[in-house]
Amino acid sequence: MELLIPCAFGLEKTVKRQIIALGYGNCPAQNGRILVKDADLCDVARLNVFLRSGERVLLKLGEFRAETFDELYDGVFSLPFEEYLTRHSKILMDGKCYKSTLMAVKACGGVAKKAIVSRLRDKLRASSFDERGERVIVGVSVFENVVTVTLDTSGEGLHKRGYRILPYEAPLKETVASSMVESSVYRAGKPFADLFCGSGTIPIEAALYALNLAPGRHRAFDFTAWKNTPKDILNRAFEEADDVRVRTKTGLGLIGSDISPKAIETAKFHAKRAGVEEHITFTCADMRTFRSQEKYGVMISNPPYGERLEKGTDLFALYRDFAKAFRALGDWSCYFLSGFSGAERAFGRQADKRKKLFNANLECGFYGYLGAKPPKGYENPSKNEN
Ligand SMILES: C[S@@+](CC[C@H](N)C(=O)[O-])C[C@H]1O[C@@H](n2cnc3c(N)ncnc32)[C@H](O)[C@@H]1O
Repeated sequence: MELLIPCAFGLEKTVKRQIIALGYGNCPAQNGRILVKDADLCDVARLNVFLRSGERVLLKLGEFRAETFDELYDGVFSLPFEEYLTRHSKILMDGKCYKSTLMAVKACGGVAKKAIVSRLRDKLRASSFDERGERVIVGVSVFENVVTVTLDTSGEGLHKRGYRILPYEAPLKETVASSMVESSVYRAGKPFADLFCGSGTIPIEAALYALNLAPGRHRAFDFTAWKNTPKDILNRAFEEADDVRVRTKTGLGLIGSDISPKAIETAKFHAKRAGVEEHITFTCADMRTFRSQEKYGVMISNPPYGERLEKGTDLFALYRDFAKAFRALGDWSCYFLSGFSGAERAFGRQADKRKKLFNANLECGFYGYLGAKPPKGYENPSKNEN
């Protein structure tokens, strides 16, 4: 089977790298989605459990051209839904239309669902459908008159790791946070700080990454309830996740701080749920007071940027003070995601690395200011003190 992994704009390269690292060589990127060829249900389980920055894992059922509703109906009717669905399946339609003759998403979904039910009626010899069973989200996306039909094996989006349950004002999506960590120079053993940690997403994702903990190792996925999915297939992926996790007696020594006491309370709770609380010290503090004796550390943050938080505050002064706190650390590197257009000006120079990313549909810049490289063979002394 073929699988499609959609991802947020700007994350294609990161997600492709993650898929290749999991051992899949054949994976071209197409229109914000990565295609994994020659896959089976074991791969569905592994990708769902291990992927850090993909949005979901879609099983591609078929692709065909359609410019009329009749062509759409016939194309959908020709696909083997009976291999995955029963007469009890709760069929939910999802879709989008872009640059095509068929542009009415809801109408396309309605026609496609009629075709699916007709096909099931024929193939399963069923006369009634109660939709009281397992959920199957069917995607019908029309792009330049080519219809792609998918089944969503994940169900809930992969950003829902399960650890973040308390509400917070402007949390960063876990998939975006993990991509920021992976795109930085942070590696296990280096000093790490997020001085605007909010509900804890970035330090928690950094800990999961450093400990090679699979982000989906505690959650459920829709495909396990489908017809013909072997019972133990997800458990095998969970066992693999357990085998490859890094077990360490010393903590990672990550730091998360925030000016809001509520943020710190929330972050501690989430870190505990994620099973990484012994690796992160959370402190309530203004970022201006941050000091560290450690060398070659990495700061990764998502400071406020006005649209969703802190209306009326002087953002320029906040970023200027952030830059000052960063410069005082000497050889550290600093990365941040922000929608504030004056961020680089406030930092006093252009970033060494910059890319466009979206957080909750808001266009942001991901900026990187690189510190000095540690000399070859350099060991962080605090690692030995733990
Ligand atoms: C966009 S939110 C961070 C969200 C976080 N990444 C998450 O996933 O929950 C920005 C955070 O900066 C904090 N903040 C604002 N001014 C600060 C300051 N001077 N020092 C430290 N934290 C500050 C806010 O309390 C808020 O939690």
